[in-house]
Amino acid sequence: MRGLGVGLVKERSVGTSGVFVIVGMALGILLFWPLPGAEANSCVDCHKTLTDPSHVKHSFLEWEQSVHAKKQVTCNSCHGGDPAKVEKKEAHAGVWNSNNAKSRVYYQTIPKTCGTCHDQYQAFQKSRHYMMLQKTGKGPNCATCHGAMATKVLSLQEMQATCNLCHPKPYQAYETLAIVRKTALSISLLKDALGAARQAGRPVAAAEAELGRAQAELALAKQAWHTFHIKEIFAKGISAYEHAQAAKNELDRVKPPKASP
Ligand code: HEC
Ligand code: HEC
Ligand code: HEC
Ligand code: HEC
Ligand code: HEC
Repeated sequence: MRGLGVGLVKERSVGTSGVFVIVGMALGILLFWPLPGAEANSCVDCHKTLTDPSHVKHSFLEWEQSVHAKKQVTCNSCHGGDPAKVEKKEAHAGVWNSNNAKSRVYYQTIPKTCGTCHDQYQAFQKSRHYMMLQKTGKGPNCATCHGAMATKVLSLQEMQATCNLCHPKPYQAYETLAIVRKTALSISLLKDALGAARQAGRPVAAAEAELGRAQAELALAKQAWHTFHIKEIFAKGISAYEHAQAAKNELDRVKPPKASP
């Protein structure tokens, strides 16, 4: 699946940073304990106790509720530093405020840092957004759209609002993302229906072929998303949708006729 680049994470970088496990959830607060025998993560250990300055406290709370915390992606994965050192000064070696160009989370460096784990960086480097980010500083980086530490994937409405921060004229992005998501959903439903039809001994080869085409086109659309070549992505999304429709028609065609009352 990684070859498809659909929101996947490179295996090599995952797991190495995970030294804590989520062991409990009480009153909406995640508690962290070191695994017995596992190396402790000093960033998390120390920062969870900080109440001051407020921007530092706030950052911890944002991270704590993020998908990254749940997957044991710790502070050092994005900020650098040495999570094996307990002294602040030693642990902070290589950690800089994000407004410092040496920081791994400096606004122009963010895509590269996220790209150590996320394949989306490959497509993003081909985008006009990336080019403008590097040339003029005016393009968005990953954190503009996904948040810095309270990381998430935007809903359609949130995406619209985010794009509008810089684009008064709407691109076809909304329709494009809508068709991509709608097709993904219908493909997953069709997979179930196809499995049931096969079990019932109905001829499903034609539906299966169309579903395969739909999946391939959808994978291309998703893979291209971060290039923001919207017209191209829209065309692939539509094509995926049409193949999914064709698969559905094939399945309907081989349905046994309803018994007349
Ligand atoms: C012993 C406690 C301690 C440890 C260990 C520690 N920090 Fe900090 N960190 C702090 C404190 C306190 C601050 C507030 C600013 C200051 O005093 O330097 C801070 C600030 C920061 C900031 C904000 C910097 C800024 O300029 O605004 C980042 C980012 C950060 N820490 C990341 C990390 C990472 C990554 C690690 C692990 C590699 C880590 N910290 C380990 C105590 C710690
Ligand atoms: C997925 C990457 C990622 C992880 C994991 C992460 N951060 Fe951050 N953090 C960022 C980014 C990006 C910024 C820059 C914020 C911005 O551009 O507004 C930031 C900003 C901060 C700031 C504000 C000061 C500054 O330099 O702007 C602090 C403090 C901080 N992080 C601490 C932490 C701590 C402590 C952890 C672990 C508990 C952590 N971060 C985990 C990406 C991350
Ligand atoms: C050390 C590796 C690592 C780094 C660095 C990292 N991530 Fe992640 N990220 C992950 C893992 C692991 C997940 C959970 C993946 C999953 O469950 O499919 C994840 C999940 C996400 C998700 C949610 C995907 C989904 O489908 O819900 C987004 C968005 C995301 N990361 C964006 C970022 C951004 C933006 C940065 C940089 C500021 C970043 N990540 C840095 C490993 C990383
Ligand atoms: C201009 C806004 C924008 C920027 C910049 C951006 N993304 Fe995204 N990203 C999105 C949107 C919108 C989606 C949802 C696409 C979908 O649902 O297929 C998304 C999806 C994702 C996902 C989840 C993919 C999935 O299929 O679940 C990850 C992970 C991700 N982006 C990481 C990144 C990384 C890493 C960067 C920087 C290299 C980045 N994004 C830059 C808007 C952006
Ligand atoms: C931080 C500002 C910013 C945000 C947020 C932003 N963009 Fe852009 N976008 C730009 C800039 C700058 C350009 C380049 C305009 C130019 O060509 O002069 C651009 C160009 C584009 C282009 C044209 C790409 C090309 O290849 O010609 C598309 C499409 C686009 N953006 C879509 C989006 C979408 C969709 C979103 C929201 C998910 C979004 N943008 C969010 C700044 C932004």
